[in-house]
Amino acid sequence: MTFQVGIVGASGYGGAELLRLLAGHPQMDPAVVAAHSQAGTPIASLLPHLPGERTFDAVDPAQLAELDLVFLATPHGPALELGATLADVGVRTVDLSAAFRLDAEGFKTWYGEDHPRPDLIPAVYGLPEYARAQVAEATLVANPGCYVVTTLLALLPLTPLVAPGSVVVDGKSGTTGAGRAMKETLHASHVGSSFTAYGAPAHRHTGEIERYLAVHGRDVGAISFTPHLLPIPRGLLITAYAQLQDEVTSEDVQTALRDAYADEPYVEVLPSGTFPVTKAVVGSNACHVSAVVDPRTRRVVVTSVTDNLGKGAASGALQNANLMLGLPETLGVPVVGMYP
Ligand SMILES: NC(=O)c1ccc[n+]([C@@H]2O[C@H](COP(=O)([O-])OP(=O)(O)OC[C@H]3O[C@@H](n4cnc5c(N)ncnc54)[C@H](OP(=O)(O)O)[C@@H]3O)[C@@H](O)[C@H]2O)c1
Repeated sequence: MTFQVGIVGASGYGGAELLRLLAGHPQMDPAVVAAHSQAGTPIASLLPHLPGERTFDAVDPAQLAELDLVFLATPHGPALELGATLADVGVRTVDLSAAFRLDAEGFKTWYGEDHPRPDLIPAVYGLPEYARAQVAEATLVANPGCYVVTTLLALLPLTPLVAPGSVVVDGKSGTTGAGRAMKETLHASHVGSSFTAYGAPAHRHTGEIERYLAVHGRDVGAISFTPHLLPIPRGLLITAYAQLQDEVTSEDVQTALRDAYADEPYVEVLPSGTFPVTKAVVGSNACHVSAVVDPRTRRVVVTSVTDNLGKGAASGALQNANLMLGLPETLGVPVVGMYP
């Protein structure tokens, strides 16, 4: 059986990556490929890797309501509206934005506005490694943020081993993490051969990391999170530091990570002392994780990488969609990245 699916925001980076992945998916047909300002534009003129005559569709909620599943790859504002419309008519939806990830209080704190549909939040959080059964049953799935999923996969198995209040997360993302719209700070002459932090100490992903460490692991209190902008198009690297509880050994850390992901197709735990590289996961849904313990400070240092457009957005969304449609979770979702 082939499912009819739609992408809203197909002209953006996340939506375009979904379109690429759907081109190789045997059981999903992108029946609607919608954009906003680019509606009517030939797809190939924006996305040269997807040649053909097709143009971007306009967003038509009535047309979306006829589909088996819709991916929302828009900013959270339009997603709030469309996600609610689709939820009201029972259409399965995977939202890549932050519109439905937090509860009402968290949304107000981190996004500065009252949520228009508190009855819909938090939606099922699309982290199959920790909520596979819930995702499979969900109508509305909130896909995790890119920094968040990369941090959660690294830290969740370790939450019982670390001291509350001691977690520091350092994130670095390629420029596609900021979306397709041109901004002064993303101009090649600004970002090339340069490196900078931004957003600390209150980047919006901080609250999402804290919330889902507690939901799926253990509450480790407030974390410090600082993102950075890398002069590469895609790829995201997290370095997280936390104080170990007394008695916890380096072996306990390795065992916790290996046990958590032994059966997971997309999470690879590397040998301690080797460090993951962003290039190894680009184009895939993989997350590579590695941890070392510093015996001098008794801190664990965990590093993890994803493709911000992969596990951090489009392929993670496709993994969730497969589950929601009762398909094999890995169908059309690449395990291995491109290298070099
Ligand atoms: N980029 C990442 O690495 C990443 C990772 C995880 C999650 N996300 C989230 O995924 C979502 C999309 O991100 P992105 O980076 O792909 O953004 P993007 O490149 O800026 O693309 C945004 C898309 O949304 C469409 N859009 C804008 N306003 C709209 C409206 N009112 N109604 C319908 N469509 C509208 C745009 O259409 P036009 O171009 O036609 O105007 C475009 O297709 C965001 O919520 C982002 O936070 C992104």
